[in-house]
Amino acid sequence: MAVVLIGFMGAGKTTVGTLLAEALQRPFLDSDQYLEQQLGRAVREVFATDGEARFRQLEHEAVLALLAGPDAVIALGGGAVGDERTRAALGQAAVVYLRVSYPESMSRVHGDQFRPLLHRPELDQVYLERLPLYEELAAVTLDTDGRAPSELVEDILEMLGKLD
Ligand code: S3P
Repeated sequence: MAVVLIGFMGAGKTTVGTLLAEALQRPFLDSDQYLEQQLGRAVREVFATDGEARFRQLEHEAVLALLAGPDAVIALGGGAVGDERTRAALGQAAVVYLRVSYPESMSRVHGDQFRPLLHRPELDQVYLERLPLYEELAAVTLDTDGRAPSELVEDILEMLGKLD
């Protein structure tokens, strides 16, 4: 079964996912990286040129493609859970929610030119709207504020073991 990491920007999905994949001896995949490789374009460029709706459709297709591959650790872009078809597809995965507070998220990603959502007005509202979606999908939830990626990986391994 695929292990899928969800959570808001700056939750540490890519960092923790890379370490977790190493520990589980599985490939690490990231929906944004996959999309960028497939399209040969940067996420922020797709947002700017084609718009967010197009990005969300491509993101949904990317997640389906990744879930269809061999069991891996897969990190999803923070907004991927907004698509109900994606949420339904995650029923076949072990979903790990990396929870980050809004202030901690902003301090981690502050000023990142590659994250188009940082230009969104009322981003705090987007954060609040997503929280119940992350909660609903999670088999395992971990608070990440003030915690090192290596500690989080230890906790995830333990909690995934309990799911078996
Ligand atoms: C987004 C998060 C980004 C990326 C895109 C949109 C979002 O991924 O998919 O910029 O809507 O929260 P990360 O969560 O890896 O930053």
